[in-house]
Amino acid sequence: MTATNRPASCPATRLRAENLTLSYDQRTVATGLGVDIPDHSFTVIIGPNACGKSTLLTALARMLKPRAGQVYLDGAAIASYRSREVARRLGLLPQSSTAPGGITVGDLVARGRYPHQGLLKQWSADDEAAVVEAMRQTGVLELADRPVDDLSGGQRQRVWLSMVLAQQTSILLLDEPTTFLDIAHQVEVLDLCAELHARKGHTIVAVLHDLNQACRYATHLIVMRPGGVIAAEGDPSTVMTAELVEDVFGLPCRIIDDPETGTPLMVPAAPKRYPLDTDTDTGTPSTVMAKTS
Ligand SMILES: Nc1ncnc2c1ncn2[C@@H]1O[C@H](COP(=O)(O)OP(=O)(O)O)[C@@H](O)[C@H]1O
Ligand SMILES: [Mg+2]
Repeated sequence: MTATNRPASCPATRLRAENLTLSYDQRTVATGLGVDIPDHSFTVIIGPNACGKSTLLTALARMLKPRAGQVYLDGAAIASYRSREVARRLGLLPQSSTAPGGITVGDLVARGRYPHQGLLKQWSADDEAAVVEAMRQTGVLELADRPVDDLSGGQRQRVWLSMVLAQQTSILLLDEPTTFLDIAHQVEVLDLCAELHARKGHTIVAVLHDLNQACRYATHLIVMRPGGVIAAEGDPSTVMTAELVEDVFGLPCRIIDDPETGTPLMVPAAPKRYPLDTDTDTGTPSTVMAKTS
């Protein structure tokens, strides 16, 4: 929906994009791409590799200038803001980041406070409290004095998330926040996002790969297909169909009810079976999982 055909009863959302053309040099990733991020939603973007999810997120955060079209933040073209002003309103966790060599966890997370600093403003008790709270929420407080370079991929991912949380913005754009994390930490990070969404009314936009996690956590699901095209969006329970998954991901599947939450649960069609080599078999998955449970 564009500004021109938006009914008066439907106010503009805080973050939206109109008619974007997104390109890298000669490569155009998307044309005519429009998206409205519902205020206070937990929006999840899914789609196959290279379809343009990260590109869209970086454009929404003003890290990539659209070749055409416009991103609007709080009613004004995002390009019209000072960068510090954008960073006070929205935070981006990019898909990959490199920490300055030798920096400690505490110092990196503290960099999240830069939009709140100024020439005349000293590091304050509020800054310190925000950094400690962000490290506590992501479980990295005990790593505060460790060099970021020495951490595992999963620990590092939580440190970057911590830095974005320390920014204390009410809009959070998170590109694959669960990558590198074991399953328990994935759930922890998604639960934290859900809590920020539910308790503080934050607007969360997260790119996820796990369709079932997407359906569990999203209040608004956006499905992208190659070419930066939005194939479907809305409530996960109406959007997530077997036809859509096969169409967009090329994966035959069934959709059943998640026994825990009642949200859509995508079960891929069974793979072709190959006979087991009994000499090298150290245990079928069903016997191993049964032993450990
Ligand atoms: N910095 C870049 N320079 C050139 N091409 C890029 C760059 N980043 C991404 N691309 C290309 O843009 C397309 C979309 O990438 P991306 O948005 O990262 O996809 P996704 O996040 O959905 O996996 C891909 O074809 C990718 O190769
Ligand atoms: Mg990506």
